[in-house]
Amino acid sequence: MTAQDEPAVEPAVEHTPWRLLTGLLKTQRRGLIAGVLVGLTWAAAKVSVPTLLRLGIDRGIRGNESLLKWALIIGAVGVVSALSIGYRRWLAFRESRTVESRLRERLYNHIVRLHIGFHDRSQTGQLMSRASSDLQQLQQFVVMIPMVISNLFQLIAILVLLITSDPLLALFALVPLPFVNFSARRFNSKIHPAVMAVQVRQAALATIVEESVSGVRVVKGFGAAGVQSSKLRNEADRIRSVSLDAARIRARFLPAIDLLPQIGLIAVLAVGGHRVLNGDMTIGQLIQFNSSVLLLIWPMRNIGMMLATGQRAAVALQRIEQVLTTESEIVDAPDPVRLPQAGSSTGRGSLTFRDVTFGYDAERTVLDRFDVSIPGGSSVALVGATGSGKSTVTRLLLRFYDVQGGGIELDGCDLRSLAIHDLRRAVGVVFEDTLLFHDTVAANIAFADPDASIERIESAAKLAGAHDFVMALPEGYGTLLGERGFSLSGGQRQRIAIARAILADPRVLVLDDATSAVDPSKEHEIREAMATVMRNRTTIVIAHRPGTIALADTVLLLGNGRIAAQGTHHELLANSAEYRDVLASWASSEEDSDLIVGAADDSDTEDPRAAGVVDPHDRAAVSPAAIRANAAVVGDDLTVGTHVHEPIGGE
Ligand SMILES: Nc1ncnc2c1ncn2[C@@H]1O[C@H](COP(=O)(O)OP(=O)(O)OP(=O)(O)O)[C@@H](O)[C@H]1O
Ligand SMILES: [Mg+2]
Repeated sequence: MTAQDEPAVEPAVEHTPWRLLTGLLKTQRRGLIAGVLVGLTWAAAKVSVPTLLRLGIDRGIRGNESLLKWALIIGAVGVVSALSIGYRRWLAFRESRTVESRLRERLYNHIVRLHIGFHDRSQTGQLMSRASSDLQQLQQFVVMIPMVISNLFQLIAILVLLITSDPLLALFALVPLPFVNFSARRFNSKIHPAVMAVQVRQAALATIVEESVSGVRVVKGFGAAGVQSSKLRNEADRIRSVSLDAARIRARFLPAIDLLPQIGLIAVLAVGGHRVLNGDMTIGQLIQFNSSVLLLIWPMRNIGMMLATGQRAAVALQRIEQVLTTESEIVDAPDPVRLPQAGSSTGRGSLTFRDVTFGYDAERTVLDRFDVSIPGGSSVALVGATGSGKSTVTRLLLRFYDVQGGGIELDGCDLRSLAIHDLRRAVGVVFEDTLLFHDTVAANIAFADPDASIERIESAAKLAGAHDFVMALPEGYGTLLGERGFSLSGGQRQRIAIARAILADPRVLVLDDATSAVDPSKEHEIREAMATVMRNRTTIVIAHRPGTIALADTVLLLGNGRIAAQGTHHELLANSAEYRDVLASWASSEEDSDLIVGAADDSDTEDPRAAGVVDPHDRAAVSPAAIRANAAVVGDDLTVGTHVHEPIGGE
């Protein structure tokens, strides 16, 4: 891996938020203490073995005590140490995984609560996966705590034993050991970036595979299989190269770590051997000494690793803390006002936009003194060119963002004075791109109210024009949707989304391009549903098909960030050249610019012809130019298009 494409993994450690960790560890105190106690039992058993070995040799073999007795004692100690290492490991993992999952939960809850502006700026998916690896670092640190404390105990106990029993010999044995610790630390800090690099490349490879598979139609459609496979080959090469880097580091360090302690042992053997020969030392003592030295190696390595892991955990903690301390810019009012009861005379969902000014960034205002009142229970169509700020109005209404100037009132209450939860219950939005969750049709519709009865779900689906196709699905309302579930067409997804909004029964309903993916020749079916849904409910319809626009009582034309014109569809068509232009450009950009629908009365919507739906093959008759020309001459009868063309084929 080259330096420039390695992500900046480790920011400089400025301050270490250990308080976050100690807070978490406190909640796991009992488990961790148990882990440490079991670990100490293990360490004590381990430390006693060399002494038992000496006694076994000197008394059982060379003396005249029973060898079997010593063998049994050593065996029993071995069992204690085996059981306690298993139990310690289990406790350590249990506690560290708990810390990890608690923190993950906290992070997740915090991230979803953050304002949308935060999510727009930082890719949330990436943030979560970054957080995942940070959490893993932390888990690896916590899992080592009981082990390292018992290792530390073992280390000290053995050092004391060695030094008190034979200081000179101890000196020979111990000299190489700090190097073991040092090498282990170096090894750990070198291998870590190499392992990370492998992970990063593997993720990149996975992305390419993912894209090629899920985008197989595009890839094949453009004959780009060759491009994808050469990308794949490159990536595979890079994985090989970074993996070899990691292997090289291992190959360089592990022999040193392994060899160093042996050097100490050779010294012990040489010096100790002489003493035994001279009769200053028993064989048992020599073996005790040697096996004690061996017991130092693992703790040395582990403590070295712990130091390196601790450094990474500190960085990870810092990053996690950074997210956790990011405050949401959109928060509940300290003392929220309650909305008037829904359906009461003051709770009908009246909306007032007072001179609303807003821009996503300082350079560009999207809404500039946007000012309009929408009486409760009435419906408006919001029409405007692409990028004119229609969806922005929706986002402000949900308080995804706060206005920068002016204010928005719902039933006389400024949005900022309401509890966000109440606001979002009161305002339902169907977005242009519909997200279906991996769940049943019924659960997707009943998203706002998981306890809704199947009758309510079905009636919402019927209103949204979804019931019939849902019944035709393999398992009806029990069919699984979403990723790995049953695939619905764009139009079907939107109908599910509309049903979802209907079930939530908000006092203000916003349909943001909610029918754009519905086949125009089928739109009349939904239009009827929409008319029903809109009745007696404040509704903002963002749409560009005249037939849908005409469902609304009033049309607002959004231009230059404010209301450029206002009136009925018919009035605007007659009086506003800008309105005609906007509709015409939408018509020409519509995927199948097959048809332009005329304004239709609700009562006519049963008949596709009356709704102005024309055969997709009849292209010539419905060109955008035809609208402009047509609208201009139609004059009083403001329906676009219905005169000029007769449907040829019907549906
Ligand atoms: N999250 C964002 N950050 C910065 N700019 C944005 C963001 N969302 C939208 N914009 C910009 O704000 C302007 C208005 O966007 P908006 O989505 O409201 O348009 P729209 O009228 O809904 O368009 P369309 O009809 O294509 O959906 C656009 O110029 C867009 O580029
Ligand atoms: Mg939009």
